[in-house]
Amino acid sequence: MMKTIFSGIQPSGTITLGNYIGALRQFVELQEDYDCFFCIVDEHAITVQQDRLELRKNIRSLAALYVAVGLDPSKATLFIQSEVPAHAQAGWMLQCVAYIGELERMTQFKDKSAGKEAVTAGLLTYPPLMAADILLYGTDLVPVGEDQKQHLELTRDLAERFNRKYNNIFTIPEVRIPKEGARVMSLQEPMKKMSKSDSNQKAFITLLDEPKQIEKKIKSAVTDSEGIVKYDKENKPGVSNLLSIYSALEGIPVADLEQQFSGKGYGDFKQAAADVVIKHLAPIQERYYELIDSEELDQILDEGAQKARRRAEKMVKKMENAMGLGRKRK
Ligand code: TYM
Repeated sequence: MMKTIFSGIQPSGTITLGNYIGALRQFVELQEDYDCFFCIVDEHAITVQQDRLELRKNIRSLAALYVAVGLDPSKATLFIQSEVPAHAQAGWMLQCVAYIGELERMTQFKDKSAGKEAVTAGLLTYPPLMAADILLYGTDLVPVGEDQKQHLELTRDLAERFNRKYNNIFTIPEVRIPKEGARVMSLQEPMKKMSKSDSNQKAFITLLDEPKQIEKKIKSAVTDSEGIVKYDKENKPGVSNLLSIYSALEGIPVADLEQQFSGKGYGDFKQAAADVVIKHLAPIQERYYELIDSEELDQILDEGAQKARRRAEKMVKKMENAMGLGRKRK
């Protein structure tokens, strides 16, 4: 039987080059060989407050980008999390398996709650919902960027715990992290990951940035004063980040790029890096604008939700049976 893949992206802003290189691009490759479910995880996005109109816009935009980068609805199931109630149902059951202590230890929770006066309960219980997303489909493999590794470990722990305490119903999923570009860094603070929620717009490139903006952002990327194009993550994080981006997009090893740019200044290197990013995003953007207001997109999402619902409801029933919820039924 074909193995199953699940992954999700939050619609909390226009997705970045980091999301693309770390996650989305892998999805396109994987759809050929796996039974894939790719989700727009809007219920995760509301763990911090969102503007309702913005959120609606971002959900649709992310759906269009899924298709625009090359995900094919005849191969992969594309759907919106809140349109499949099984996620919230399974999320609740898994909250009742998770311990507060292990949730408080999650790096993402610590980062997002640090210094905040009001922290929602949803921010704390985010990982059991993520575990539900994954476990509902009997997922074997989860392609994500490096920052999600800890959540995947917790997902495995929760699945094992549930299997042991109740009934052995969950497949234990493996994580899949890309070799190149698993952690694309901020263009302004290259020791920090590139994030769509960064308050400094110059720190990230979105998939919908115009060529001029991309060029400007890469040209003003923070580097160093050495003037040598060389990969050295510790001492030259800015240049190393641009090398990684270039290498990941073009499939050229970093060592070859170092050679290609030896003796050239950062000006030439940055221009070349900008050209590569622009070249890769142009066809995606073209397809995006065809799709964004189309009925085709709604059809894709309707069908995706239907397929996901059918599959996920079965697992919810199994979970309820294992835990003894409701009444016994055939
Ligand atoms: P999110 O929305 O923050 O990011 C989506 C995907 O992009 C990857 N990513 C990056 N990769 C490389 N460099 C970066 N700078 C970078 N920033 C983000 C993330 O690792 C992720 O793969 N919790 C998840 C969403 C989620 C999910 C799931 C993922 C919910 N349920 C089930 C997998 C399976 C998140 O916040 O991703």
